[in-house]
Formats: sequence, C-alpha cells, structure tokens
Amino acid sequence: MEFMMFITLLLLLFLVPIFFLFRYKKHSDRLPPGSLGLPVIGQSLGLLKALKADRVDKWFQERITNHGPVWKANLFGYPTVVLHGPAANKFIYTCDGSLLTNTQPPSISRILGSKNIIELSGNDHKRVRGALVSFLKLEVLKQYVGKVDEEVQHHLLTHWHGKHEVQVQPLIKILTFNIICSLLFGIERGPKREKMLPLFQDMIEGVLSIPINLPFTQYSRGLVARKKLVPMLLHLIHEKREALQDQNQPSDRHKDLITLLLSIRDDDDSSTMMSEEEIIDNIIVVMIAGYDTTSVLLTFLVRLLANDRSIYSTIVREQKEITSSKAFKEALTWEDLTKMKFTWRVATEMMRINPPVTLSFRRAKQDIEYGGFIIPKGWQVLLSASMTHMDDSIFQNPTMFDPTRYEKHTPPPPFSYVAFGAGPRMCPGIELAKMETLVMMHRLVTSFTWELLKKDESFIRVPMPEFDQGLLVQVKPLNKTMEA
Ligand code: HEM
Repeated sequence: MEFMMFITLLLLLFLVPIFFLFRYKKHSDRLPPGSLGLPVIGQSLGLLKALKADRVDKWFQERITNHGPVWKANLFGYPTVVLHGPAANKFIYTCDGSLLTNTQPPSISRILGSKNIIELSGNDHKRVRGALVSFLKLEVLKQYVGKVDEEVQHHLLTHWHGKHEVQVQPLIKILTFNIICSLLFGIERGPKREKMLPLFQDMIEGVLSIPINLPFTQYSRGLVARKKLVPMLLHLIHEKREALQDQNQPSDRHKDLITLLLSIRDDDDSSTMMSEEEIIDNIIVVMIAGYDTTSVLLTFLVRLLANDRSIYSTIVREQKEITSSKAFKEALTWEDLTKMKFTWRVATEMMRINPPVTLSFRRAKQDIEYGGFIIPKGWQVLLSASMTHMDDSIFQNPTMFDPTRYEKHTPPPPFSYVAFGAGPRMCPGIELAKMETLVMMHRLVTSFTWELLKKDESFIRVPMPEFDQGLLVQVKPLNKTMEA
C-alpha cells in the first residue's frame, strides 16, 4: 500500500511538470523571463540552500538583477512566477480569490485538515476568519494580559530560575504552546497539555517535511499525530459545549476561543456557525501558525539583547519604569503594554530583518495578466517578505538594525512591511503575538541577565529559523526572591 503511494507520488512529481509544459506552451511568448530549470527539481535546491544559509534575500536579489521584478522559476514541483515590490505585494495580498487562491498541496491539508482557514476562500474564509477574530481582536484580548503574564512567570520559574544554562528556542516554543493552550483552547496546565505538545510538534514537522508517507518518515508521523489529536480535540469540544449549556452566562462565551466558536450561531440561530470539523481544523491551524512564529521572534530578541548593549539598556530602562509603578509581583495590564513602545519597535525591526514567515505562496486560479506578462492557470505565485524588507528603495540602509526607523513620522509605505502579511489574510494573531512578546520581554529583562554561550551560534531556515543548539545562553537571576 505504502509502496503504491510512493510510486504514485513519483509519477505525480514527473507528470505535473509535463502537464504544465504542454499547458503553458500557448503562452510561451508572454511568460515572464527566467528559466524553469530541470523538470521536478527546477531551482528548488538552490532556494532551499539559500533558505538554510539565511540568504533568501540575496538569492532573490540576484534573479531580480538578471530578470527584473517579475520572473519565472520552477519551485517545489510547480512552475512559479516570483513577484517583487510593494505593488506586487498589494496584488498578491489583496487579489480576489477568483484569481489567486491560497490552496495548499493535498499533502499539507491531510495534516492540517481541509476546512482550515488557510484553505478557505470567499465567504467561507470571511465567516471563519470573522469567528477567529471575534476572539483574537484587541478589545477581547486586552482582558487576558494577566493570564499571559501568569503563564510567562510560571514558565520562567519552572524552566529558567535555578538554571545556569538554558536552550532558549525549545523552551520558548513550550511557552508559546502553553499560552495558546491556556488562552485559546482553555486547557489548564497538566497531563492534557503534556499529551498534546508532542503531537503538535509532529504535525508541524510533518507539514514542513517531504510528503512521503512511509513508516518512520516525518510526514507519516505528522499524519499519525493528527489521527491521535482529533479525538482529543473532539472530546475537549464536547466538554466545552456541555459547560456552556450548564452556565449559559453571556460572559462565559469569551472564556476561550473554542468556547466562543461553539457559541456563535448561524443567522437563523438554528445551529452553530462552525461545524465541529471546522472548529478542529481551525484550532489546529491556529496552534501551528501561532506557536513557531512568536517563538522565533522571541528567540531572536534574546540573542539581540545579549549582543547589543545599547538596545538592551534602553529596553531595561523602559521596562524598569513600568515595574517601578507597580507593587511586587503585581500582574501586568494592558496599560503597561501600551508603555512598551521602544520594546515593540525593536521587535518590529527584528521581524523586518528576520521575518519568521519569509515566503508566501498563492496559486493562479485562471490565466492572469500581470505587468505585461501572463501567469498561467495552475502556476504558483510567490513573494518574499525578506526581499521586500531588504529593498533599499523602501528601507534606507536595510541591513542596519535601526528600531528608530518606526519613530519617524513617515511610516513605511503600504505593503512594504509585510512581516504579518497584509490585506484580507493578514495575520489575525498579531495582537496575541505582540502581547506574548512584550510580556515575555518584560519578565525576562526584569528577572535575568544572560550571555550567549556560543557567540556565533548560527541558525538554518527549514523554513522556520532553527538555532544549531537551540540558542544556548548562560543565565543569572537578578532578583533572588523570585526563586523562593
Ligand atoms: C510573530 C508572530 C507571527 C508572525 C510573524 C505571523 C505571520 C503571519 C503571516 C505573514 C501570515 C500571512 C501569510 C500569507 O498571507 O501568506 C499569517 C497568517 C496567519 N496567522 Fe500569523 N503570525 C504570527 C503569529 C500568529 C499567532 C500568535 C497566531 C494565532 C493566534 C497566528 C495565526 C495566523 C492565522 C490563523 C493565519 C491565516 C490567516 C488567513 O488565512 O486569513 N499567527 N501570519
């Protein structure tokens, strides 16, 4: 069975490019410049190598210099048109779903589920996104700053205090997982969370792996993890439905994201707006979209603060001012976060230089005319946030880390700062990511000092940045009483 799947996959890998070769022949004089390279492989290995070496912007720049801002390549099994510049970003991010879709390869939706928001388009996308945003919007999230703070403090007490050395990146992944469990899933600390963490980790690795479903491949582990996770999530949904029916207080609806999704009714009030299957697929995607991204940002910030004394001191000053107006161990509030302006500018600049999500893909649903060229139906369309962020016609001295660039009265032009994407699919988790980042930075700099154990510890993008040794640091607590 597995062998047959393997053969089918191989055949598909060869047949898909041959199919496209014949299909786009009719457009050959209007295709963008560039080469599709070898069948199947195309330029994928080159891009993967650039990703690993964190040289994506340079890889793109070389091709833009040769071909201009619109060019073609063969990437990850599909002929692809790569677009560059704010106008191109606007086109991709705001394009009608009838022209460009966000559909993922079937191998990915087998793990994430076919009803997840990334797969959806048109009214279905609007409906599911509206439901997610009704919890993730600022007005609702504001009341949960204390809960995030409690998770962060518990995390530091458990994993950082009393330790001389910590591996930052894997630990911060546990933190972001726990925050999503607490805030969005309403799962308290304990065995349920502990059972779910490795399953989510296997699913993420499965999504990012070569989709060969053979025993012991990462991909098959991802599929197995989904199979185990779905009944657990279904059980959780049933528990929450019962609790909702018992309590029936309007305020209980906003207890967590799952409870809210269960309580949003159809227009005619006959059933819930989202089916159980949709809720499952979307809470899985929220975890996968929210867990690695924020942890990457926080890991880079920990490294930056160890390397840049001037930024470190300014952040410490900003954070200590907040501490000085509060009682010992008093929880942070939303008002406190609004005072962390410099800290957020540093995080913003960090995501310009190192965007956690560096590539965004779409698929042409029909032949599209763009910039005098044709993008044939079925082709991939790709933009790179790293490339846009390193464009010196948009950001002066783009390689310089300069958080003050966001103080100026002229913010970057629209569609040029795209760490969170833009348009109708812009990241709905932006406020949560901001909250997690600011709370963690506050608690870190007011509780510890740290030094990198390996000054030049490097990372590879696979495609998310992963530090070789998880970013090893030596930590020293500032306040002994925290350890008690
Ligand atoms: C620093 C942290 C984060 C970064 C840099 C980030 C970045 C992004 C980007 C670039 C996109 C758009 C991708 C595209 O258009 O192709 C996106 C979408 C998305 N993000 Fe985030 N994200 C972050 C945190 C989060 C968090 C915490 C959550 C969960 C609460 C989340 C949930 C989502 C979802 C559900 C989508 C899909 C939206 C849609 O298709 O309408 N993200 N994110």
